[in-house]
Amino acid sequence: MTSLQLLTNPKPSSLYSSTLTSPNPFTTKIQTPPKTFQRSKPTTQSVLQYNRKPQLAGETPRVVVITSGKGGVGKTTTTANVGLSLARHGFSVVAIDADVGLRNLDLLLGLENRVNYTVVEVLNGDCRLDQALVRDKRWSNFELLCISKPRSKLPIGFGGKALVWVVEALKDRQEGCPDFILIDCPAGIDAGFITAITPANEAVLVTTPDITSLRDADRVIGLLECDGIRDIKMIVNRSRTDMIKGEDMMSVLDVQEMLGLALLGVIPEDSEVIRSTNRGYPLVLNRPPTLAGLAFEQAAWRLVEQDSMTAVLVEEEPKKRGFFSFFGG
Ligand SMILES: Nc1ncnc2c1ncn2[C@@H]1O[C@H](COP(=O)(O)OP(=O)(O)O)[C@@H](O)[C@H]1O
Ligand SMILES: [Mg+2]
Repeated sequence: MTSLQLLTNPKPSSLYSSTLTSPNPFTTKIQTPPKTFQRSKPTTQSVLQYNRKPQLAGETPRVVVITSGKGGVGKTTTTANVGLSLARHGFSVVAIDADVGLRNLDLLLGLENRVNYTVVEVLNGDCRLDQALVRDKRWSNFELLCISKPRSKLPIGFGGKALVWVVEALKDRQEGCPDFILIDCPAGIDAGFITAITPANEAVLVTTPDITSLRDADRVIGLLECDGIRDIKMIVNRSRTDMIKGEDMMSVLDVQEMLGLALLGVIPEDSEVIRSTNRGYPLVLNRPPTLAGLAFEQAAWRLVEQDSMTAVLVEEEPKKRGFFSFFGG
């Protein structure tokens, strides 16, 4: 068992060594899972029951990596909003910003001025783990942990083993084990990605309904499966009903058919997301909530209950009748 006491004197050499448990995604042939998803008849979506608390399914801590492959699709936005939704429901949450060098989860949460220490200092023995955890003022059961300072480089050899050690230490804290540990994954599929997914038991794959994002997502699914993560659900972000209706954007049903994953949520394109990002005030805290805020809350609810939703078919707009149609044209 790792105790917090241990954190004052970690042994960097053992922690920084690479931890890839076999099979190594870079050396193993990727087997993409069979696409078992069947196009089903659309059903009515489940309606959230706000008069009850969602029932936590699975063993705690639920260690969830939020990943995508492609950058800029909404991983950090999802981590901040889902994380704070979970905290609002009374669950204890630690969000780890594993996007080394380009970290911005602290900005989205408005906590950038309060990050004094990071995991790197903890592993160097310069501070304790609880000093590196930044508690949110709005929801005290939400804490942020950054891996390193912005634009700084990680020590050579920092890998999944170090992150596994951090997760183990979080489990053994005096305050008790958190219900959720959310890991905001960097873009790409290189070492940073491997480090971020190593301690996770489940994954939320964020994708936008465009072909480049889907191709990267498909590759990431293969890598996650190779690492033994079987519980993968997806969030389709920046969906636009008007474009889907006009057949200018892939429908959620099409995305689900391509990736073959259970659907955790669909987040509409919403300018409020950008506004809230710039204010450091996550969308789910807005009252009254916007559509995207509600969608994030619903996704968080499903995450807690290990539930999923059914994609609803969006009907194509009927073709407008032209002037000559009056004359039978
Ligand atoms: N549903 C959405 N509607 C509008 N803008 C969004 C939405 N989701 C994300 N964004 C914007 O997209 C940009 C990238 O999001 P971010 O979460 O940083 O992506 P990633 O972490 O995957 O790189 C941000 O400016 C964010 O405000
Ligand atoms: Mg990000």
